[in-house]
Amino acid sequence: MVRTHTCGELRLSHINKQVTLTGWVQRLRDKGSLLWIDLRDRYGITQLFLEEGISDAALLQTARSLGREFVVKVEGIVAARLSKNDKIPTGEIEVKVSSIEILNASKTPPFTIEDETDGGDDLRMKYRYLDLRRNPVRESLQLRHKMAQQTRAYLDGLNFIEVETPVLIKSTPEGARDFVVPSRMNPGEFYALPQSPQTFKQLLMVSGFDRYYQIVKCFRDEDLRADRQPEFTQIDCEMAFVTQDDILSTFEGLIRHLFKTVKGIDLKEVPHMSYADAMKYYGSDKPDTRFDMKFEELNKVAQGKGFMVFDDAALVVGICAKGCAGYTRKQIDELTEFVKKPQIGAKGLVYIRCESNGTYKSSVDKFFDEIELARFAQQCNAEAGDLILILAGDQDKTRKALGELRLHVASQLGLRDKNKFAALWVRDFPLLEWDEETKKWNAMHHPFTSPKPEDIPLLKTSPGDVRANAYDMVLNGTEIGGGSIRIHDRTTQQQMFTHLGFTDEEAKKQFGFLMDAFEYGAPPHGGIAFGFDRLCSLFGGADSIRDFIAFPKNNAGRDVMIDSPSAISEAQLKELSIEVKK
Ligand code: AMO
Repeated sequence: MVRTHTCGELRLSHINKQVTLTGWVQRLRDKGSLLWIDLRDRYGITQLFLEEGISDAALLQTARSLGREFVVKVEGIVAARLSKNDKIPTGEIEVKVSSIEILNASKTPPFTIEDETDGGDDLRMKYRYLDLRRNPVRESLQLRHKMAQQTRAYLDGLNFIEVETPVLIKSTPEGARDFVVPSRMNPGEFYALPQSPQTFKQLLMVSGFDRYYQIVKCFRDEDLRADRQPEFTQIDCEMAFVTQDDILSTFEGLIRHLFKTVKGIDLKEVPHMSYADAMKYYGSDKPDTRFDMKFEELNKVAQGKGFMVFDDAALVVGICAKGCAGYTRKQIDELTEFVKKPQIGAKGLVYIRCESNGTYKSSVDKFFDEIELARFAQQCNAEAGDLILILAGDQDKTRKALGELRLHVASQLGLRDKNKFAALWVRDFPLLEWDEETKKWNAMHHPFTSPKPEDIPLLKTSPGDVRANAYDMVLNGTEIGGGSIRIHDRTTQQQMFTHLGFTDEEAKKQFGFLMDAFEYGAPPHGGIAFGFDRLCSLFGGADSIRDFIAFPKNNAGRDVMIDSPSAISEAQLKELSIEVKK
């Protein structure tokens, strides 16, 4: 090796050792007769030291010519530092330099390579290779590496086999648009990139593999958000001969193993909640259960007192914000503005302050006297000092809006602590959801999910009430994984496609291969896929998945570093039999 040690390695025990280090110049401090250089690599920072009159004059000149991010090889002797730096592990020593070789010069980087950089998002993305030199981003990728290693260790220990599935495939319906790739050899025809390896993992079960996993890239052409990228990674898994509970306990085991080995946390047993309860009590299919603030339905106490907003509503529902009775008019106005935002969609917000002296003050005093307000408080388990926040209107919309308000208030109260973790299984999702635009039923999870056998008769009469053997794992209010027990016989799968509005011919054309396979001894099977980037970002305490991906896309789906997507030449288009209208 060119180097004898890394920049994070030397300690007092190495004193008087002759060493060779390589790395990047982080900082240079020239105090006239004394000169220090901070040398950085992936492992840490080591201080180098040169002294006028003692160090060689030519050497001092080379040292003074160094700029930030120059790549150097230095030789020297390890010495104890006079003033120690207890902030870094190498802070007790420095290297007295005897030679410096410049391996490569560097332009001044466009932003500082420090934990807190002066570079904005765009600049960081354009020079991502420099951004990756910064500790927080490098540590995020190291965390990702560790999580991948531990995932493999856990699944390998349970006899799961890692199989790679193809990337040039045909549409897999996971609810997003496909990215497509034109085929030169088959003019006018296209591959689709997998939204997930769903159909292949089911085929592997037919093949008898029994337990499969893959840490795999998936591609979805959908609008981007902080927790979504057009290409992202799943821990994709499938098992044969299992019940839903077998799957839940196996993968709860995986998450528990990751918490233990990566973060040293003993995760509590993961509670189960039905989709119906999640919507009823939290207004969301991914409730954040780090804190309570459950919904209380208030129709009984709220209706029939002449307040039309409540009287006309299908649902009156509230939450109790503990200790918030002191919220000022301005703070309550801010909450009202929040729920009235178009994306939240409530018409207004009613509040009841439970004053410390046992009286009540509300925005609906005209309609409700003290005794009636006390009933609201009792219903919401509110005590003196608490604030009750109430929304009214259409069931689903009101629940969703209150769910958003719940999160907003919890954030204000500091209840969404990134170092606290609450996982939850949400199960018994509806099989189908109605799409107003296309006036069709869509599969809520995907079309391969099996209905609960006892609900099958409802398929004809009220399809929206049929529950699926489908489940999600939610961590701190983020969906980190989802899966289901699959349909494994041709007839049911065919019926499912019919319910989803496919003609027999369309179903056969798109998924005939899977239905054919079901006729050759397909075992009962089911599985799950975790969003690996999301899992890493939650473990890392970050809001965005971007820094857990080495080279992510920006919000417009662009890689600004390599400038992609980009136009291709006419010749290439022609070769691919693609005509572009001028
Ligand atoms: P699903 O579509 O729920 O299930 O995806 C599984 C998990 O992948 C993550 N995820 C994403 N992460 C980042 N960017 C995205 N654009 C993105 N989309 C999804 C989420 C999600 O929970 N084939 C099924 C799994 C199965 O049934 O076994 C599937 O893909 O964390």
